[in-house]
Amino acid sequence: MEIEDPLEKLSLTPYMTDLCQSSSAIRKMDAIAKKMAEKYGKDKIHNFSIGNPRVEPPETYNKIMMEVLQDKSFYLPHGYAPNTGDDEGRKAIAELFSKIQEVEISYKNVILAAGCAGVINIFLRTVLIVGDEVIIPSPYFLEFPYYVSNFYGKSVFCETFFEEKWQINKERLEKCFTAKTRVIIINSPQNPTGIIYSEDTIKMISELCQKYSNKYGRPIWILSDDVYCRVLRPNKKHHQIFKFYKFSVICYSLSKDLSLPGERIGALIMNPKIKLCERNIHAISMSNEFLAIYPPNRLHMRALPKLLKFTSNIELYNKSQEIVENTLKKLNIEFIPPEGAIYIFPKIPDEIDEMEFCELMVENFIVVVPGSAFGKTGFYRLSFCNKPEDIQKGMEQFEISYPKVIEELRKRKKNNI
Ligand SMILES: Cc1ncc(COP(=O)(O)O)c(C=O)c1O
Repeated sequence: MEIEDPLEKLSLTPYMTDLCQSSSAIRKMDAIAKKMAEKYGKDKIHNFSIGNPRVEPPETYNKIMMEVLQDKSFYLPHGYAPNTGDDEGRKAIAELFSKIQEVEISYKNVILAAGCAGVINIFLRTVLIVGDEVIIPSPYFLEFPYYVSNFYGKSVFCETFFEEKWQINKERLEKCFTAKTRVIIINSPQNPTGIIYSEDTIKMISELCQKYSNKYGRPIWILSDDVYCRVLRPNKKHHQIFKFYKFSVICYSLSKDLSLPGERIGALIMNPKIKLCERNIHAISMSNEFLAIYPPNRLHMRALPKLLKFTSNIELYNKSQEIVENTLKKLNIEFIPPEGAIYIFPKIPDEIDEMEFCELMVENFIVVVPGSAFGKTGFYRLSFCNKPEDIQKGMEQFEISYPKVIEELRKRKKNNI
C-alpha cells in the first residue's frame, strides 16, 4: 500500500510499530488456516490452536443468571461497583480459596477484576517500577511477557525441559535472581504443558524468593496464575502456595473452569499472612480504577456465590485428553501427559523444523501452535478444549496428516529443499 504522508508511519510507539510488523507464529498459522478454510470449507479445518473452552458452562448457569436478574433486593444493581468488586463476590472467592489453600482467607484479601489477565495487569501495575525484572519459567503462557512490558518491566526466562518433565530446576532458577527481581510468575496446571508443579518445586521456589528478598531488602512476589486450578485430571491435586511463602498472590478466573472467558470475571487473592493486606488490596484496587480495567460486570459479580459452587463438565476434558494421548501414542509421538488444563505440548522429531512442521500441518487441515510462541522451539501446543466427539474427528484427521507431513519434511531435508 502506498502511504504518501510520512507522518503516518510514525503515529504509533516504535514498540507497537515493531510488534505489528513482526509476523508472530500464531498469526502465520491463522493466515494459512483462513486460506485453507476459504478453499476447502471451514468444517474441513480442525483447529487445535486456541484455549477458548467449547465445553458449555454448567447447566445451572442460565437459571442462576435469571435469578440474579430478577432479584430486586440489590441496591443499584447496574450502578458502579466498588473498585475492589462487590463484597458478596469477594466472600465467595475467599471461601473457595480458603478450601483450596487450606488457610483462612478473608474477603478483604480479595479483589475482583476483568479476568485473570486483568488481575495480573493490575497487580504488576502496583508492584513494578521501570526496569524491574520478572522471572518467567519457559515455556510460558504467551501473554506474560507482554503484561510485564506494559509496565516497563523486563522478563527474565528460566528454561525448563521436557527431559525434566517441565519442572523448574533450582540451579537454573537461582541464576535468574538479581537485585532487580520483583516478581516470579508461576502457572500450574500450566499453559502450554499441562504439568502441575510438585510440592518440592513450590517449596524450592519459595525458599529462593525468601533468600533473595532478604539479600536485596525488598520482597520478591510469587504470582501464582491458578486459572486452571479446578481443571485437573483424576486424582491430581493443585499446588498450595500460601502456606509456603508470605509474599504470594493467586490469580484466578472463571474463564476456564466455568467456560465463561467472554464474561471477564477474575480475582486476585493475597496471602493473609501479610499484615498490610488491606492497604495492598486498596492499592491494587486503585490500579483497577486507573487502568480502567474495573471489577467484572455486576450481574456476574452478584452471581459469584452461586456460580462458584459449580464447574463445567471437566470429565469431558479428561476424555478429550485420552483421545489425544491415544493418537499420539499410536504415532510414536513423545509427550509429557498433562495433569491439568486443556493443552498438550508434544515433541517434534529433532531433525524437523518446527515452523515448517506447523505450516505443513495447517496445509493438511490441522492447526496447532508452534512452541516458539511459548518460548520453546521443537514442540507444538495442541489445545483439547473441544468436546470429545469433535476431538475424535480432529484426531482422525491428525492420524492421516501427521505421517504425511513428517515424511514430506524428511524427504525435503534429504534433498536439501
Ligand atoms: C495461563 C493463563 N493465564 C491467564 C489467561 C487469561 O485468562 P482470562 O481469560 O481469565 O483473562 C489464560 C488464557 O488462556 C491462561 O492460559
